[in-house]
Amino acid sequence: MNIPVVKVKDVEKVYGKKGSNQSHALKGVSFSILEGEFVGIMGPSGTGKTTLLNDISTLDKATNGVVQIAGTDITKMKQGELSDFRSQKLGFIFQDFNLLENLSIYENIALPLSLQGAASRKIKSKVNKVAEMLGISEILSKYPSEVSGGQKQRSAAARALVHDPAIILGDEPTGALDSKNAVSMLEAMKSLNEEQGVSIMMVTHDAFSASYCQRILFIQDGELYKEIRNTTTRENFYREILDVLADLGTHKS
Ligand SMILES: Nc1ncnc2c1ncn2[C@@H]1O[C@H](COP(=O)(O)OP(=O)(O)OP(=O)(O)O)[C@@H](O)[C@H]1O
Ligand SMILES: [Mg+2]
Repeated sequence: MNIPVVKVKDVEKVYGKKGSNQSHALKGVSFSILEGEFVGIMGPSGTGKTTLLNDISTLDKATNGVVQIAGTDITKMKQGELSDFRSQKLGFIFQDFNLLENLSIYENIALPLSLQGAASRKIKSKVNKVAEMLGISEILSKYPSEVSGGQKQRSAAARALVHDPAIILGDEPTGALDSKNAVSMLEAMKSLNEEQGVSIMMVTHDAFSASYCQRILFIQDGELYKEIRNTTTRENFYREILDVLADLGTHKS
């Protein structure tokens, strides 16, 4: 079914107070992400990608416009409601893993469920399931300092997923990984998307990472510049992405 999991309408973001040095980071952006889609956000540095992600992820608030997630308008929510909403409906994967060093990998992955007060039996079965999906069952009793970068990132992905969020949001999720670990992370995200139907929105600079997406939105100077969809192979899509990026480079003001 074509249900939008994210709906962004006429979103504007202005940083700074009136009269001071204002920065118009988003100038009226509209798009939807359907349930089960894997969407990439690309564009030159400073064009508003992280701003967009933050306004969708409830970490910051759009100045104007509407952001709906799973049918709820988050721009109307109060701070307390927002943090509940965030912990229940969203999963995050950042570049720097954000794993807590004093907790085991198991405890890190369990965190979103522990915070919701889930029963330990439920936590155990969910953690084991996502760990198996991501190929990290063997390292659950280890601590972050004892595992590789790729294993850390897959642990972070497991934590993003363990509470069945409506969507997983990533800002450069492969940014800190070498190419081998980046590939295994991207393969893991792809299989989560294709086999479990998990919706994913990922900001990335990297055309290779982006080639794993089904659709890519290009942002330029706070506006939607172009949208492309993978209708062929990943290799062909990769070349299409490079073409748009080259285009964006030449159109840069
Ligand atoms: N907290 C802030 N206060 C003021 N201006 C900001 C703030 N965050 C971002 N900006 C400005 O908003 C614009 C968009 O920034 P944003 O971080 O969204 O870009 P980006 O596309 O994620 O860039 P990059 O690819 O380098 O991560 C930039 O001009 C930036 O300087
Ligand atoms: Mg950014």
